[in-house]
Amino acid sequence: MDHFSYSDGELSCEGVALSRIADEVGTPCYVYSTATLVRHARVLAAAFEGQDYLIAYSVKANSNLAVLATLAAEGCGADVVSGGELQRARRSGIPASKIVFSGVGKTAGEMELGLAQGIHQFNVESAAELRLLSKVASARGTQAPVAIRVNPDVAAGGHPNISTGKKGDKFGVPWAEAESLYAEAATLPGIRVVGVDVHIGSQIGDLVPMRAAFEKVVGLTRRLRDAGHQIARIDVGGGLGIPYQAGDAPAPPSAYAAMIAEVSAGLGVQVILEPGRVIAGNAGVLLTQVLFLKPAPDRTFLILDAGMNDLMRPALYGAYHRMLPLKEAAPDAPDETYDIVGPICESTDKFATERTLPALKSGDRLAMMSSGAYGAVLSSQYNARPLVPEVLVNGDSYSIIRRRPSFEEMIALEEIPDWLS
Ligand code: LLP
Repeated sequence: MDHFSYSDGELSCEGVALSRIADEVGTPCYVYSTATLVRHARVLAAAFEGQDYLIAYSVKANSNLAVLATLAAEGCGADVVSGGELQRARRSGIPASKIVFSGVGKTAGEMELGLAQGIHQFNVESAAELRLLSKVASARGTQAPVAIRVNPDVAAGGHPNISTGKKGDKFGVPWAEAESLYAEAATLPGIRVVGVDVHIGSQIGDLVPMRAAFEKVVGLTRRLRDAGHQIARIDVGGGLGIPYQAGDAPAPPSAYAAMIAEVSAGLGVQVILEPGRVIAGNAGVLLTQVLFLKPAPDRTFLILDAGMNDLMRPALYGAYHRMLPLKEAAPDAPDETYDIVGPICESTDKFATERTLPALKSGDRLAMMSSGAYGAVLSSQYNARPLVPEVLVNGDSYSIIRRRPSFEEMIALEEIPDWLS
């Protein structure tokens, strides 16, 4: 459930009409709902009540400081994949004791940072990374708390580009090698084994592959314990899907939590979750304005002021985002079918093909729904377009939580060498 709906003919976020934000902040612009973020965090927490759990919000989904601070206030920890994300999480008030550090390519410098901060856990993805982490921690006279991310060879995920738990994916340690890597970990001076980690993909609506992966991980945990390893935590990753369009019915957090409770019953572990999309996805929209209608012989293009540089998901994964006009259409308003595109000079700069909407004209504004996760974070300045602002609504008011940069700010890091000037 989210807090975006029509009220008096105006698409609103909580108590604020989105057309007011579009007028005052300009388009394109991301808008997030505090009530929705909080609700999603609470629904997840409620689902896991009674289990020993840690919600480590996956910062990559939406790393705005204000979003992180909102979730920090709800008691969330963080799943980070870079030194930058780690610093964002800390700056937003998330304690190091609730931070897990994932990712296949941590640098020694990032390991240093995590150790200096005293994070909860490093999720290690290869033998080479484990050895480097041991070296870095030993040099500091400490031990890194480690879970090894295993690849359970289970296919899942809403799109091949976001599946991560299959043999051949770059993620995790191959299933057959996991136990020998744990054996090596036990001999490394800078490593303290604390858990097992798995993450099989994203936008997973069906619990069957998740259960298959977790059952394998529970079996592995028992074997590792038999071999003398202290496995006190299972990190189940993220991946729970969200509804993007009518008819989508992903498994709800309650069923997910119940499945995990059942699979891990009697094990006595802390369950770490790394949810990203399920918290942030439906808590945000991208506001955009229709620039032009461009009739072609066989279709009409609707050209928006938002482009693939602002919201990459359709271009990257063929993702579907609902589009709602900010002004509610009259029930008898005529429909039109459009190819909806942005202004970028790329053919993949397309948000939808043959999408039927209430007839629109230049100047009308739309919200691209479900853009709160993997929206702003994936944006770029391609075509020298400024990063779009982000706004956080809270009840009847809103705040700009990232402003639009000026042209001078956009070029501030660049320099023309002396020989050219
Ligand atoms: N943990 C790990 C190790 C991950 O790699 C990810 C996402 C998550 C947690 C959070 O997954 P979530 O709960 O959000 O599904 N850009 C793509 C999604 C990429 C997901 C990458 N990893 C998209 O827009 O669909």
